[in-house]
Amino acid sequence: MALDQFLTALDSMLGEARACLETVDSAEALEQLRVKYTGAKNGELKSIQKMLAGIEVKDKPAAGKRFNEVRDGIEGALEQAAQRLGGSSQQESAGPAFDPTLPGLRPRLGTIHPITQSLEHLKEIMGRLGFNVTEGPEIEDPWHNFVALNIPEDHPARDPLDNFYLATAKSSDPAAQTTQPARLLRSQTSTVQIRVMETQSLPLRIISLGRVYRPDAPDATHFPMFHQMEGLWVDRNVTMAQLKSVLRLFATSYLGGDVNIRFRPSFFPFTEPSVEVDYWWNGQWIEFGGAGMVDPNVFQAVGIDPEVWSGFAFGLGVERLCMRRFGITDIRDLYRSDVRFLRQFAT
Ligand code: DAH
Repeated sequence: MALDQFLTALDSMLGEARACLETVDSAEALEQLRVKYTGAKNGELKSIQKMLAGIEVKDKPAAGKRFNEVRDGIEGALEQAAQRLGGSSQQESAGPAFDPTLPGLRPRLGTIHPITQSLEHLKEIMGRLGFNVTEGPEIEDPWHNFVALNIPEDHPARDPLDNFYLATAKSSDPAAQTTQPARLLRSQTSTVQIRVMETQSLPLRIISLGRVYRPDAPDATHFPMFHQMEGLWVDRNVTMAQLKSVLRLFATSYLGGDVNIRFRPSFFPFTEPSVEVDYWWNGQWIEFGGAGMVDPNVFQAVGIDPEVWSGFAFGLGVERLCMRRFGITDIRDLYRSDVRFLRQFAT
């Protein structure tokens, strides 16, 4: 076949293809044109390519070069037409843009922190025993953290080294300085006992859960911030037997099974008598918290007549309970915010 003939055939095909592709007005028509020109079996480009075999050897380079230009031209025109119609002409090779058979991307869901899970669980159990949930501030004054709880001025618990006192703004006026009350991060949730008795009417039965702060060096069992659950029941004729029943029912519910508890004599300024509470679990006694009968001095501090009213109070460490339950051995793990650790406690 003569080179001239071959080139003419190529050019007329390109001209015709361009004309068609400029005016094509539907995706179906475009697809037909694509098959007509570039179809792998009977496409026109394919047929013309076969003619290359009959070209004289000396003319082959020129013929091949023109063939490639025409092929590129047609593919470019196809792509342009596809873009004009809002799609891609390369459906066979690239595949659809959205492949519904691929596995989806799993969304990362957060999990509820084990301490939050424990707080909710404790509220639920104590709620069933008739205790209402109350809250108190984390920034306290010495009256609620110490004085009203029968912790006098010279008591070691008030030592600045054992508490986070807040720096208060210095005033140049000496009179203002003396009237400015000290503030501290509460060191115990017993503060809420005072706030509740100051504002609520009797009888009352409350729990309060929240953060407390002590300047302890962090180790496996200590952290400068932790949570306590405080309980208070004030009524006529509340007894220590009721205290023990409530704590035992609570331990049984939280830990499951028939949990035994014991009282050991102890001292807290705000209770008299005072006890340490242990529970028997998996073959050993484990410390649970402190408790006792509300000291008459505490009642008097909030204007309640101790001859008429009696009450019990208790305070438990939430981390300790939570760690037992989840098998966590280092309190610091709770506060590293490492999702690989926290994810294990997904509910
Ligand atoms: N506030 C005590 C503490 O932080 C715990 C406590 C002991 C609370 C006895 C009480 C109680 O209500 O009666 O160590």
